[in-house]
Order: sequence, then structure tokens, then C-alpha cells
Amino acid sequence: MEIIIQPTPAAATDVAARIIARLLREKPDAVLGLATGSTPLRLYQVLVDMNLDWSGVTTFNLDEYIGLPREHSQSYHSFMWENLFRHVNIKRENVHIPDGNAADIPAFCAAYEAAIHAAGGIDLQVLGIGTDGHIGFNEPTSSLASRTRIKTLAPRTRKDNARFFGSEEAVPHHVITMGIGTIMEARLNLLLGFGSSKASAIAEAVEGPITSLNPASILQMHPVVKVCLDEPAASLLQRADYYRWVYANKPAWQTF
Ligand code: PGA
Repeated sequence: MEIIIQPTPAAATDVAARIIARLLREKPDAVLGLATGSTPLRLYQVLVDMNLDWSGVTTFNLDEYIGLPREHSQSYHSFMWENLFRHVNIKRENVHIPDGNAADIPAFCAAYEAAIHAAGGIDLQVLGIGTDGHIGFNEPTSSLASRTRIKTLAPRTRKDNARFFGSEEAVPHHVITMGIGTIMEARLNLLLGFGSSKASAIAEAVEGPITSLNPASILQMHPVVKVCLDEPAASLLQRADYYRWVYANKPAWQTF
């Protein structure tokens, strides 16, 4: 894993945006995996401001709540169109977000996996991390080989997301999420984590044992992972000074 520690969320976001921008310039028909939540909000603003060409890009979102109408303000459909897609020249037919109202959820999930495969696989997957270490909505004890499927949110995640819904009771219990096995097939995983509330999940994921109790820890087995953190999110990393030195001394051809 490459751990990139920056002074602020804005600075860490700028690094992540440069990594994505480089991919879109080098591969105009790239397939991006995208995430929602508060963490990537600024990333999408920065990408919009970069005026990149999205006309050949295909996207697959990680997850969606089950049962929320698509037009609900907190659906991930609404989030993605509001914060990214309506501001760029992506083709509507190239956008894929799990359908939380699918009549046959297992069939939908199988079709989602098939669509990722048919698109050639995901070149770069953007990830946030839950305070419990979830990636996508793969909660602790998720199978580390899981594929896109229905999941039940952990109480902690529903509490964390209550801020978006006004109350914990209003947060849906069920979601569709790409599996950990799905995420592990992305060619590059780009994880962002900001704030002290993420510090222990980040430390466990990066420096702890690989365990389904912290699903993000499986990324230690992935060949190309970049983790963009602000200082508070990095505050429990034991080898933070080493990561800082590595980043400050990258060969010029490796910098973003
Ligand atoms: P957040 O959520 O970006 O809103 O903190 C991250 C996550 O749950 O993956």
C-alpha cells in the first residue's frame, strides 16, 4: 500500500484527483468505480473543476440503499448526479449505480457483476472507509471473497449515517453493495480517509492483521492501493514517518 499523508483533506483530495485525472487523460475510455458519502464530495468538485473529458468514461458505483426511491435526496443516485454526473459530459448509458428497487435483487446483483466484467473490469476504484472499517457497504465479518449482493447495515453505520437522514430510524437497514471480491479485482484501489473518527479503522486496515472484522484490511493483499489521508486520519499509524518519507522522496517519474 502507498500511504499518502497530507496536512488537510483538501490536500489529500488534490492528490487523489490528480491520480484520477492522469488515468482519464491516459485512458479516455477508463472504467471508474465510484463511492459516495462525505469523503469524496470535494474530490468530485475538484474533478469537475478540472474540465476532464468524461465522454468515453464508464462508471460503476459501489452501493445503494434498498427501498429508497431513486429521486430521494439521500439515494446514491441523487448523490452522484447532483455532485458529479450532471456537471460533466459523461454519457447517461455509461453510468451504473446499483438499483435499490430491483424486483429480483440476486438477479440484479449478478447482472451488475456481469456488466463490470463486460466493461473490461474497473481500472480505478474510489473507496471511503467506515469507522468500522467497511469498504463499500461490506460490514465487518463480510466474506473477503464476496460479490455484489444484499447486505444489512451494522448499527454503527446506521448511526454514522443518521446525519444525512435526520434520524437513525430513517436510515435504511438494507443495501446492495459490490463485494470485497469485486473491489479486489479493480486494477487500482484509491482509498480516502479524513478525520480522527477514521484513525483506528485506518490503522487497523493498514498495519493490523488481515481480518474480516476490518474489511479494508484485505487491501493489504491488493497489488496497487493508494491511501490518501489527512493528518488526523493518519494519527494512529505507527509507521507514519516512514510513509511521509517515502512520499517526499518518490522518483520524479512516480509523482502524481
Ligand atoms: P463517509 O462514509 O465518507 O460519509 O465518512 C465513508 C463510508 O462509509 O465508506
